[in-house]
Amino acid sequence: MAGWAGAELSVLNPLRTLWSALAAAFLLALLLQLTPARLLPSCALFQDLIRYGKTKQSGSRRPAICRAFDVPKRYFSHFYITSVLWNGSLLWFLSQSLFLGAPFPNWLCALLRSLGATQFQAQETESKASRMLGELALSAFLVLVFLWVHSLRRLFECFYVSVFSNAAIHVAQYCFGLVYYVLVGLTVLSQVPMDDKNVYVLRKNLLMQARWFHILGMIMFFWSSAHQYKCHLILSNLRRNKKGVVIHCQHRIPFGDWFEYVSSANYLAELVIYVSMAVTFGLHNLTWWLVVTYVFFSQALSAFFNHKFYRSTFVSYPKHRKAFLPFLF
Ligand SMILES: NC(=O)c1ccc[n+]([C@@H]2O[C@H](COP(=O)([O-])OP(=O)(O)OC[C@H]3O[C@@H](n4cnc5c(N)ncnc54)[C@H](OP(=O)(O)O)[C@@H]3O)[C@@H](O)[C@H]2O)c1
Repeated sequence: MAGWAGAELSVLNPLRTLWSALAAAFLLALLLQLTPARLLPSCALFQDLIRYGKTKQSGSRRPAICRAFDVPKRYFSHFYITSVLWNGSLLWFLSQSLFLGAPFPNWLCALLRSLGATQFQAQETESKASRMLGELALSAFLVLVFLWVHSLRRLFECFYVSVFSNAAIHVAQYCFGLVYYVLVGLTVLSQVPMDDKNVYVLRKNLLMQARWFHILGMIMFFWSSAHQYKCHLILSNLRRNKKGVVIHCQHRIPFGDWFEYVSSANYLAELVIYVSMAVTFGLHNLTWWLVVTYVFFSQALSAFFNHKFYRSTFVSYPKHRKAFLPFLF
């Protein structure tokens, strides 16, 4: 009998608890926005923690104590620098393990186990379980590659595509953004059981493990990434002239691509990117679906604020356009 010890058997491991709690917090914040205005917490700190960028109240209308914790929104690039370095290192360790049989560093194994990673008794392997492990290893490898490619593209966009205004984020949001990409990478890695020598179990060529969901996940990932890039280009061009020179830092109405359907087309693409990773995991990885649920509610909340901002700022704003999900919300 194949021996999966620990977290695979328990519904609530530390990572699942964490992603569920984050998803629930953003769902609650979203539900609060849908309640009558008088019931909404008017506390400036609460508003500062759930809004950022163009939907934060402008400058002098916010208390000085709140403004003291502002961090420039262009520091989003720090998230992607962290992610490229951290998730690049995780990818390096995983590749060394899968292709060369090199054990993971002890500190990383301890960290993964404390987060609920599973262990596998190699000598008890059945062929069916061995095949499932191979598929899971390929899924984790691909998702980590996707995460790294996504972060690299976003870093490129922050430096060479996006035009940032003086918009701000709260220092707590900044710190969360840094920790977020560390946690996402650890979540991916913790899905693959290691054997008792801290090596990922792989008995055949990695490519031999490929299944339909790996191919579909990859197609979805590159398709949604291309749309997100296009949306960021559209936003950037709103602030440039025909020669590509930045001429202002105001907010205008975006048109084209998925913006024809929703106000926050780049957030919709972000959601599809995370769904593509759930597909790559074979559609049945509960932990990853909790990550997707968190991304769904956090992006839905920001999209809700963006939509309100556009509708209250521009009288000519397209009436048929939804906030986040085409034809629905
Ligand atoms: N996975 C996650 O948890 C997570 C969380 C947050 C964000 N993200 C992703 O990160 C990406 C960037 O997020 P974001 O919140 O910064 O997106 P955003 O508010 O749409 O901003 C993207 C860029 O476009 C500019 N911009 C926005 N609206 C504009 C308008 N109406 N006219 C002209 N320029 C405009 C912004 O400038 P200014 O804002 O500087 O004015 C910024 O440079 C998104 O794709 C999002 O999905 C992911």
